[in-house]
Amino acid sequence: MPDAVPPAPALWAATPVTLTINGQERLLKVEPWVTLLDLLRDREDLTGTKKGCDHGQCGACTVLVDGRRINSCLKLAVSLDGASITTIEGLADGERLDPLQQAFMDHDAFQCGYCTPGQICSAKGLLNEGQAHTREEVKEMMSGNLCRCGAYTNIVDAVMEVLNARGKLAEAAE
Ligand code: FES
Ligand code: FES
Repeated sequence: MPDAVPPAPALWAATPVTLTINGQERLLKVEPWVTLLDLLRDREDLTGTKKGCDHGQCGACTVLVDGRRINSCLKLAVSLDGASITTIEGLADGERLDPLQQAFMDHDAFQCGYCTPGQICSAKGLLNEGQAHTREEVKEMMSGNLCRCGAYTNIVDAVMEVLNARGKLAEAAE
């Protein structure tokens, strides 16, 4: 009888990673191949962030990392040690919706809603960047977020409302 084959050694051990997710510090052990998207959805139960293409082409997985929008399907979680992650679940302040969430509702800026968390997180990142001032610029800078339902017009309406409201607030403060 042949000798039993010994088990293969663990080539890739899970690595300790500290992330602040929606304001809560989490100490996690993560294998090096786990994307931020899979970590959020499968391990942290934050399923608001959606998986569309899993290849960086649709924007459904957009979240904020230290305030900047990224496609979480393209980012390995181990590379984010020490980062602060905000998902759609972390945008509201208790019962008070983020202005972008409210504007998406007010403008009917979704149909099936699958792309919506990514659209809203992307819009949040866009506002943080401060580069978009016009409707055309919003369209261009949100072009990485696809909507199969074609709700683009209302999505841009919603983002413009918040952008304009911010502009008025800034003017009033001058
Ligand atoms: S799921 Fe990440 S870009 Fe499509
Ligand atoms: S609302 Fe359905 S994909 Fe955008």
